Amino acid sequence: SERDSLYIVSDFANKHYQQILQTHEQGSIGQSYLKERGLTNNTIRKFELGYSLDAWSDLTDAALKAGFKQQYLEATGLTIVKEDGKKYDRFRGRVMFPIHNISGRVIGFGARTLKSNDKKSPKYLNSPESEIYHKSNVLYGMYQARQAVRMQDMCYMVEGYLDVLSLHQGGIENVVSSSGTSLTEGQIKLIARYTQNITVLYDGDAAGIKASLRGIDLILENGLNVNVVTFPTGEDPDSYIHKVGDEKFKAYVKEHSQDFISFKTSLYAEESKGNPVKKAEAIREIVTSISKIPDPIKRTVFFQSCSLIFDIDEQLLISEYNKMHLQER
Ligand code: UTP
Ligand code: MN
Ligand code: MN
Ligand code: MN
Ligand code: MN
Repeated sequence: SERDSLYIVSDFANKHYQQILQTHEQGSIGQSYLKERGLTNNTIRKFELGYSLDAWSDLTDAALKAGFKQQYLEATGLTIVKEDGKKYDRFRGRVMFPIHNISGRVIGFGARTLKSNDKKSPKYLNSPESEIYHKSNVLYGMYQARQAVRMQDMCYMVEGYLDVLSLHQGGIENVVSSSGTSLTEGQIKLIARYTQNITVLYDGDAAGIKASLRGIDLILENGLNVNVVTFPTGEDPDSYIHKVGDEKFKAYVKEHSQDFISFKTSLYAEESKGNPVKKAEAIREIVTSISKIPDPIKRTVFFQSCSLIFDIDEQLLISEYNKMHLQER
């Protein structure tokens, strides 16, 4: 079937990119980049990392020569065909991160440029949606993480590919990434097959934190428990674990892990200090998050802690909650 053909051509490309990284003379460019990023051979092989040659159509030529149809190369986005019929590779001169589905088949790629400050081309290129790659139902690293997620009964969520790799290498194997996009319902349901507990490890910048609050409400709505850890400004989990080392990183995460509602409440309480209008808005915002939680007992606990942090009557929060629900009906 068409689907099978897309799996097979993706597998071919994955092996091709790995072969280049491991044996081609230009593979050393990718190798030194990955070593610079602190990754070991073991991690490189476990996650099947590769390298795409900095050439116009290396993969496309190899695949056509091996008998693959152009149609499937186009459908997976590996080959781009221009209006004049000229074919070229989507991924060129990049480190390749294959994305696996939960049964371990390659369905797409993320690809990082080696240039540190090139404004002309994006830092990461990704495969487009295809019949086998539905981004909203996929989490990078889930295939490698799934047993650890079940064993630890918890899943760490990070922003990027490198965060997944560095944590996994450091012994934190229950880690996945939504690849820079906000979480979807499909991704949350995927995690929920293995655990009800998510800990979000944010990159340490305020904009990123604010942007991801909504995605977290979605986790609550699905009845999962959410904790968050923030990192010092300018650090992400990958940079931080390399800065302080595996053991100190684990201790940091343990010490700074707090439940999401308390985290969000403190964040808004801090912001609205001494400003009654802002405070009222903040309270409504928190009540909105709490109202997403399906379990009434959990809701009660969070109303209590919110009333403490904001120093307001718990009954006020509950009546705010009731008002919201009357409006909904
Ligand atoms: P970041 O900018 O935080 O990248 O984006 P990073 O993972 O820390 O990258 P390094 O450490 O510089 O290599 C987080 C994630 O967002 C997606 C990627 O999945 C990335 O890992 N992203 C980012 C893109 O898809 N395209 C981009 O141009 C940038
Ligand atoms: Mn490391
Ligand atoms: Mn996604
Ligand atoms: Mn990052
Ligand atoms: Mn990073």
